[in-house]
Amino acid sequence: MEFTGKVVLITGASSGIGRATALAFASEGAKVVIGDVNAEGSQETVRLIVEAGGEASAMACDVSSPDDAAALVAHAVETFGAVDIAFNNAGIEGTGAMVADYDVDVWNRVIAINLTGVFLCMKFQIEQMLKQGGGAIVNNASILGTVGFASASPYVAAKHGVLGLTRTAAIEYATRGIRVNAVCPGFIETPMLERGGITTDPAVKKMIESSHPMGRLGTSEEIADAVLWLCSKRASFVTGHPLLVDGGYVAR
Ligand code: NAI
Repeated sequence: MEFTGKVVLITGASSGIGRATALAFASEGAKVVIGDVNAEGSQETVRLIVEAGGEASAMACDVSSPDDAAALVAHAVETFGAVDIAFNNAGIEGTGAMVADYDVDVWNRVIAINLTGVFLCMKFQIEQMLKQGGGAIVNNASILGTVGFASASPYVAAKHGVLGLTRTAAIEYATRGIRVNAVCPGFIETPMLERGGITTDPAVKKMIESSHPMGRLGTSEEIADAVLWLCSKRASFVTGHPLLVDGGYVAR
């Protein structure tokens, strides 16, 4: 029960990596606050946590809205009294097209959620953590924060941006008790890959699996384990770090 009494705020926890991380933190004693556009999925995550004996609360939140990002932190403080840990995980995949053909509205939406959304959430989380005297933040980037990927320019640009933002905030708050790190998953079997057609087409799935030296996709639970470690006392001297959890994808 490593996180007993800690309040953990997680965005995008109505499914996939966010839900697995919410369940993992709750199973280690944390009180979990979820912010997500999907109210039904968030309530289901809350239900799973409560059913297992934990505590959780969810509120509707679009991370690309400054008001929503501020309200989510206020909700955590009102409900459980603090924000000790934050996992900025909400994200969308965009559409597939090369740069010259990329739709400008989709570009703007992906950047607004995947990059500006992380900035907005961090802005209000850090403000609260400074009042409390410290905290730990993990941002969900991607292997695509470190290498390119054809037909996904706003996603790749946003994830590279998340790593720059992570490193900068880590430096800014290093002496004030706030550690800021990122997790960089390889391809993980979640609804995002289903929507992107990666896990629904056997040939594409095989190709993506084989691009990981381990020859498989990762699981949401494997990412949750890395996030919990980054937020734990065992990572007390780790800040500004992009932790690859990718079955060797980037080692190639
Ligand atoms: P997912 O689609 O299961 O989860 C995304 C979550 O974000 C959902 O709960 C969704 O409702 C929420 N969300 C979307 N837009 C939002 C908004 N504007 N405000 C608040 N919540 C919003 O997909 P997955 O795979 O679990 O994705 C989670 C994160 O992991 C994303 O940031 C993604 O980019 C990242 N990631 C995923 C990888 C994968 O292969 N699945 C690989 C590397 C990173």
